[in-house]
Amino acid sequence: MATQPTVYVTRRIPDAGIDRLEEKYNVHVWEEKTPPSKDHIIETLADIEAEGLLCLLSDEIDGEVMDASPNLKVISTFSVGYDHIDMDDAADRDLPVGHTPGVLSETTADFAWSLLMTTARRTVEGQDYVLDGKWETWGPKLLTGPDVHHATLGVIGLGNIGTEVARRAGGFDMDVLYSDVEPNEASESELADVGVDAEYVDQDELLAESDFISLHVPLLDATHHLIGESEFQQMKEEAILINTSRGPVIDPEAMDTALENDWITRVGLDVTEPEPLPADHELTRHIPEQLVVTPHIASASIQTRNKMARMAADNLSAGLEGEPLPNSARKD
Ligand code: GLV
Repeated sequence: MATQPTVYVTRRIPDAGIDRLEEKYNVHVWEEKTPPSKDHIIETLADIEAEGLLCLLSDEIDGEVMDASPNLKVISTFSVGYDHIDMDDAADRDLPVGHTPGVLSETTADFAWSLLMTTARRTVEGQDYVLDGKWETWGPKLLTGPDVHHATLGVIGLGNIGTEVARRAGGFDMDVLYSDVEPNEASESELADVGVDAEYVDQDELLAESDFISLHVPLLDATHHLIGESEFQQMKEEAILINTSRGPVIDPEAMDTALENDWITRVGLDVTEPEPLPADHELTRHIPEQLVVTPHIASASIQTRNKMARMAADNLSAGLEGEPLPNSARKD
């Protein structure tokens, strides 16, 4: 019997994916809770002469990693974002790279909404208030926050996830503005079909007009620190900013200054710079009154993580079998 190809999986992903791989391959899984170091990934790929690498967004994958195993045929990431993979290095080596678009858009949009609702209506503060024994009576002005319904939502980046976030705004009778590198007519018409009139505006107008701003851009050179001091200054004092995209899309020092000086009201983050955010990071002093932070869990529904696992396994299999990946991240 021919030997099975060997693959390295840099964390235990749901069984839905691992089982698929184990049917056909010799699967090595990094079993720790925290990621393997880059050196460890390189050593393992070399030792097992891996043909496939299934990685996570917390692994840095560059040319050095790609060259570690002489047999490497494919990289598949258990994420939609692939800013942790050097795509130029992959292109130089003609190495296919798979990712998991689509399956997590609605789940991530649901979570962006949960951060939006939480920051607007102060649920984390409310829970702390109860646990701190401060709840003595019903209060006419206790923990008041802005209305979400009929407010203006600004979506920066109307891709798959941004579109789902905008779609949900229909249920709250919100006005929806969006900015992007260019108008997205397909999404506009999809949204119009469900009664959401998403208006394309430039980013300056969106920042100035929105009550809630939700970020949905990929992390690129052009979007690194897209939201800095001048962008915070353009926002309304009442504005609430939500980030479920990538931490470095916001300049953390500018965010600290903006919160310190009440340039805006609150921020809800599922992604941070640095990530993970240490509990003693200076930004955490704004929690919970001005800041709510969750540990990068926007796509973490059980169903979606299972779908991502199957998709990542299928991308890896296709690459190993020399077929086009069902979901390729390579645009060249
Ligand atoms: C999550 O952030 C992902 O890119 O899948």
